[in-house]
Amino acid sequence: MEEQVKKSLFSAVQPSGSVTIGNYIGAIRNFSKLQDEYNCIYAVADLHAITVPQEAAALRKNTLELMALFLASGIDPNKCVLFVQSQVPAHCELTWVLNTITYPGELSRMTQFKDKSAKHAENVNMGLMDYPVLMASDILLYQAALVPVGADQKQHLELTRDLAIRFNNRYGQTFTVPDGYILKDSGAKIMSLADPSKKMSKSDDNANAFVTMSDDKDTVIRKFKRAITDSDSEIRYAPEEKPGVSNLLTIYHAFTGKSIADCEKEFAGKGYGDFKMAVGEAVADALAPIQAEKARLLADKAYLNGVMKQGAESAFRIARKTLSKVYRKVGFYSGD
Ligand code: TYM
Repeated sequence: MEEQVKKSLFSAVQPSGSVTIGNYIGAIRNFSKLQDEYNCIYAVADLHAITVPQEAAALRKNTLELMALFLASGIDPNKCVLFVQSQVPAHCELTWVLNTITYPGELSRMTQFKDKSAKHAENVNMGLMDYPVLMASDILLYQAALVPVGADQKQHLELTRDLAIRFNNRYGQTFTVPDGYILKDSGAKIMSLADPSKKMSKSDDNANAFVTMSDDKDTVIRKFKRAITDSDSEIRYAPEEKPGVSNLLTIYHAFTGKSIADCEKEFAGKGYGDFKMAVGEAVADALAPIQAEKARLLADKAYLNGVMKQGAESAFRIARKTLSKVYRKVGFYSGD
């Protein structure tokens, strides 16, 4: 009975390049914490990934790696639905219907679309523009009430809500209107180590700007040693005034579980060099067991394939229900 009162929750991560500690802190590490309280549905968003050029073999490898990372981060496939987006056709099918109630102006003003089209000027494709509609389909197919994401996805979530409301108004109650589940603390936006005014991004051209979930200890420490801070010497949390130091404190807090105030106390009177070293070590120590578990899982491809298959089947069943409802509402003839 309890199952019926649990709310559903959906989130996804793109298998495009290496997953950063920003993705982990802002999204992935929260996924397993929510799996007892909600009906959680998590996806590897490979359909989204191809909106920017991908090498086919690398995309396949990254898909498997992300699946393993989800599991190594504590997602239990017996408690959650864990699947690969392209294996459930309903995502594309619902996108088509939602496209018919979406205006081009809504999509062309999305910050991410503008940023990515500037970055990939040679490949401003329709998929890149339609990205948020596909994302809305992901969420709405599962009637998700909550969507745990980083702060950069707020605009996409707003569009998802608008489309759900618009469809419901036009065709009658069909979709749950979802809310974002965005961390209150600054973990929702981890900044670049090379330029703390910018978000940490896996697509940054400067590899020192981000730490990936698969970086080894030496690399992690080297990147933190080089992190841009300020010319002051005080280790204090003040995001506006001291964005670099505050970002490092947030990362340290996220990986050690210590409060920001305790972190400040711990480093009171210490120099930036010691501070950066301690952050690097804490991150590397926290990553080590996740990396080991991920490697163990990757060595068992049959298991990973099984999880994916089971996940896609469960996702298909839920998604199909919503899609049938949508098809009925818009007037598609089913023959039944
Ligand atoms: P992606 O793969 O770009 O990012 C995955 C998650 O990581 C969060 N994130 C961050 N959080 C904190 N600090 C950062 N520097 C940082 N960078 C990224 C993102 O907010 C995201 O939660 N469009 C989504 C993927 C997606 C999706 C969905 C999400 C596809 N369909 C449906 C939710 C619901 C994305 O950008 O993923």
